[in-house]
Order: sequence, then structure tokens, then C-alpha cells
Amino acid sequence: MAGAAFISLWLNVPNPKQSCGKPCGGFSRWGSGATAGRVACSSFSDQAASQPRSLRLLSQGCKIVGCGSALPTFTISNDDLAKYVDTSDEWISSRTGIRKRRIITGKETLNGLALEAAHKALEMAKVDPADVDLILVGSSTPDDLFGGGPQIQNALGCKHNPVAYDIRAGCSGFMLALVSAACHIRGGGFNNVVVIGADAISRFVNWDRRETCILFGDAAAAVLLQGCPSEEDGLLSFDLHSDGDGSRHITAPLSLRDTADDVAGRNESRINFPPKRTEYSTLNMNGNEVFKFVCRQVPPSVESALRKADLSTSDVDWLLLHQANQRIMDAVASRLEIPPEKVISNLANYGNTSAASIPLALDEAVRSGKIKAGDTIAAAGFGAGLTWGSAIIRWG
Ligand SMILES: CC(C)(COP(=O)(O)OP(=O)(O)OC[C@H]1O[C@@H](n2cnc3c(N)ncnc32)[C@H](O)[C@@H]1OP(=O)(O)O)[C@@H](O)C(=O)NCCC(=O)NCCS
Repeated sequence: MAGAAFISLWLNVPNPKQSCGKPCGGFSRWGSGATAGRVACSSFSDQAASQPRSLRLLSQGCKIVGCGSALPTFTISNDDLAKYVDTSDEWISSRTGIRKRRIITGKETLNGLALEAAHKALEMAKVDPADVDLILVGSSTPDDLFGGGPQIQNALGCKHNPVAYDIRAGCSGFMLALVSAACHIRGGGFNNVVVIGADAISRFVNWDRRETCILFGDAAAAVLLQGCPSEEDGLLSFDLHSDGDGSRHITAPLSLRDTADDVAGRNESRINFPPKRTEYSTLNMNGNEVFKFVCRQVPPSVESALRKADLSTSDVDWLLLHQANQRIMDAVASRLEIPPEKVISNLANYGNTSAASIPLALDEAVRSGKIKAGDTIAAAGFGAGLTWGSAIIRWG
């Protein structure tokens, strides 16, 4: 299956409107030097035309047909936080736009929230769990080190054991999972894919550090991406990047816990066995660097995705950015010359919910009637890795 999905990256023509200024073979991938890891549109059509490959793959489109979200019950406001760390509602709301956030407590689990969100997405899509072919979970804070996908699959009651796995990419997790889902569908083997963004960053926040603890909240949200004829395609284009050089700006590395003595090796050299028990340290972030990185990289990524869809910023009905900071969203919108009324924002209520933030904001906007059938959404995620990317979505 993975092979088929990869081939589709080269061959797909998901939408006749997509173009690179000349007839375009759709999405392509190349991977060396400075552009390693980039997925973009290029003119592979000539190459593709000369190779005998399955035309069946070319006719497959995909679209989001349902969404859903779930939140922990416990709310902590800025004023509440000010009782724990030296901060204030005035500082937090003016610097970030955040007023409160939800935190997982007690018996709540991330898998439980993800399950609820997936159920709601399937309900909206009117798709039975038995018809789900694949579940992708964008999450960096799963309940279990080995991820939550298969457990969510089991709890959803997917009778035919669809493939389920996790994608770990910080706040870009949903965007990468969405594009991966589209590749699986366009590859021809999958039809109904549940794409989940779920994170509980509260588990890795140092609650004594005011620079970071004020920013994050927990949540899960999901969409159902479904195969469709290419004329109805709803994922018009995408643009993905990563840059490991910037990884130092957002980290939660392993830290050693036990101080077991080194043991002598057979040749008298000192070796470290058994390995020391480890755990992840709390989140470290250079907020200023992250701020600059987003303002530098996200607007060109959105523009690139729009170009591949043969659209411009004036065609965008909604700018749906990862909900990290209102000032970041304002800066990106301003660089793209997209007016504030077209920017979807709900972070005042939930803070930065990492991989959940884009589908959570999408779900709220759809259910409130803000986003309507036919609307064009420019979505962009960014975060640890560093990773960032955009997708142009036609709703409904
Ligand atoms: C973290 C962030 C809100 C900090 O805002 P900022 O305006 O850049 O603030 P600074 O870091 O320059 O700090 C300014 C002052 O406020 C203080 N400060 C930091 N956090 C504070 C808080 N919660 N309450 C009160 N004061 C605080 C600092 O100590 C500093 O004090 P000083 O001037 O006496 O040294 C901002 O950089 C940001 O949002 N960055 C992006 C982070 C992000 O979105 N990450 C996730 C991406 S996926």
C-alpha cells in the first residue's frame, strides 16, 4: 500500500485547476540538499506521459466529509494560572490572545478524546466505523509511548481492522497526517480515512515556567477524508517542509533518571549496561525564534500551495492557521494581505492545542455555519521539528 501511495505522489492529477503555469503532473517529491523533505508541485507530466502507468490512479480525488472534536472538562483561566506562576491575564491575553485552556485531568485520556472526536466526524460524514480503511493519528503526546492509533481503531469498533498508526510531528501533526491520508487515498487502496489531531502538551509542560505553561491546552479533533471523483476533489494542493536545523527551538529531549553504575566490559573498557532508565524532559521553547520562524516560513508556504491550486490569496474565504498565538496569526494574515475577518481564531478559549488546533478550529467553524459548502480554506500548520506546511481545501 505504501508503495502505491508513493507512486500517487508522482502521478496524481487531483484537480484540473491545479497548475504550475503549464500543464502540471500534480504533486511530486524530490529529496536532496536544501530541498530535502519538500513535497511540491512540479511538471512531471512529460515524464509521466512517457511511462506506462495506471491511469486509474489519476482519476482519484479526496475530500473532507465530516469533522468532530472533543475537549477535556477542566478549564483553567489566565487568572487561575496567575495563582501558580508570576503572570497576569493582561500579559497573557495581550501577548498571545489566550484567555483560558482545557487540561486533561482525572480519568480522561487522550485516546478517549480522540475516540469521541472520531465518532463525531463519522457521524457527520454518515460513515459506519466498519467502512473505515485507515486511521492516522497526529500526536506527539500519546497515552502510550507506542501510539494510540490501533487502540482508537479497536475502540471505534472498526470491524475490518483497518490500518492505524501515529504520526509524530508536534503542532504540524494534523497537517502531515491529512496530506498522508490524501496520498493513501489517491494511491487507490483506501477510501475512508479518519485523520485525528490529538495532543496533551500539559503532560510535558513545566508548570513553574511562565514562558511556556501559559500557551498550551489539551484537545482532540478529527476529520473523515473520503475518496471521490477528481472533479469533486476537495484537497486542491499542499506544500510541506521540515528543517531539523531549527529543532533546537522546540524540544522535550530524553533525560537520564537512574544513576546505575557503569559496568566493566570484557576487554576492561567501561560500557554503559544496562541502559539507564530515561524519561522525557519538559518542553523547552525559544518563543522569539519560533515567532520569527513562523512569520518567515508560513506565508510563502501558503502562497506556494495557492499557486499549485491556481489560486491567489484573494480566492481564500478562510485562513485557518495553527492556533499558536493571535499575534502570529495576525502577522501571517497581514503578510498574505488576508483581512482579519477571514482569519479563523478560537485560541482565546483553548490556547495552543498542538496537533488538534487546526481540526478543532475547523470543526467549530463548520458547526457554527461560518464555513459553508464551496468555501476555499487555506490551512497551515507549523511547529516542532521544525516542520510546517499548508493545504488548500475546498469545503463540501
Ligand atoms: C512565548 C511568547 C508569548 C513570548 O512573548 P514575547 O512578547 O516574545 O515576550 P518575551 O519572551 O520577549 O518576554 C518579555 C518579558 O515578559 C516576561 N514574560 C514571559 N512570559 C511571561 C508571562 N507568562 N507572564 C508575564 N511575563 C512574562 C519575560 O520574562 C520578559 O521579561 P523581561 O523583559 O523582564 O526579561 C511569544 O514569543 C510567542 O508566542 N512565541 C511563539 C511561541 C509558539 O507559538 N510556540 C508554539 C509553536 S507550535
